[in-house]
Amino acid sequence: MKRIGLLTSGGDCPGLNACIRAVVRTASFYSLEVYGFKRGFKGLIDNDYSVLDYKSVAGILQKGGTVLLTAREPRFKDYNFRKLAYENLKNLGIDSLIVIGGNGSFQGANLLASEFDLNVVGIPKTIDNDIYGTEYAIGFDTAVNNAMDAIDKIKDTTVSHERIFIVEVMGRDSGFIALEVGIATGAEITIIPEYPFPLHVIEEKIVKSKDMGKNFAIIVLAEGVTSAKQLSEILNERLKDKGIGDIRYSVLGYIQRGGSPTAYDRIMASRFGYFAVKKLVEGERNFMVAFENGMIVSKPLGISFGKVRIPDIEEYQLNNILSL
Ligand code: F6P
Repeated sequence: MKRIGLLTSGGDCPGLNACIRAVVRTASFYSLEVYGFKRGFKGLIDNDYSVLDYKSVAGILQKGGTVLLTAREPRFKDYNFRKLAYENLKNLGIDSLIVIGGNGSFQGANLLASEFDLNVVGIPKTIDNDIYGTEYAIGFDTAVNNAMDAIDKIKDTTVSHERIFIVEVMGRDSGFIALEVGIATGAEITIIPEYPFPLHVIEEKIVKSKDMGKNFAIIVLAEGVTSAKQLSEILNERLKDKGIGDIRYSVLGYIQRGGSPTAYDRIMASRFGYFAVKKLVEGERNFMVAFENGMIVSKPLGISFGKVRIPDIEEYQLNNILSL
């Protein structure tokens, strides 16, 4: 093994550049070349790459986004395009590929590894933190901190105006961001897709809170449940008879995914990148980097195929007990 292919795929997140830097610098330490493909799997298909050396990754550690660019590539679902990607890699003399990606990208990576003679490594990243097999994915901590900072600000106006405010956070079908942000901001109610929170219970909580003399509430809503707009319309309608109205909402959106990574994300991304290359050098094949019980470990790449991670019920209960 002399050359490694590297790409970032799926939604961007803070920490990708720190990971790219770690891969390139560790590879350089072991005298390996790194070919960085642009826009994820699209770059593999279009043979669009640049050679990354020790110097080319200087000054990127603290930057959000990805210098390799990223994309979601529908053509990769087609075997013929995956074959083309493999042939491009072979022609460049690349037999190992590191994919820094989330659930969708891991599926593509796994297909490549099973269909062709290619050694594929997955490094988990997604602000959603829902990749099966690892307790951490690059970007999550920064996203939670971004959302927490925004909610702290929203809380000032919520308390001052004695309002109920719904804040919609990202996560696609997953509730990890909402759950952690709910705990970190002391949200009165946190609603996530994995565990039911019926409308009547939300109403009861709001009314009970008001009866206890608390005239404001922050509801953190995971986007995978419903939209904040819809929930505010429903609650405004259902609570007006109880003298509760003017329920506002805010959708945090892409600010959660941007900006400079936290120290934790920089460090985890650096560890993941270093670990991936080191294991490759040691001869390990087709694995994903995973964080488990405080340790960075490798697991078979296929382990996450078709599965997602869900939050622990205990965390959810903790959140409910501490709120209100
Ligand atoms: O998976 C990361 C994520 O930011 C989700 O939280 C969100 O639902 C989705 O990506 C948004 O994707 P896109 O960039 O395609 O709008």
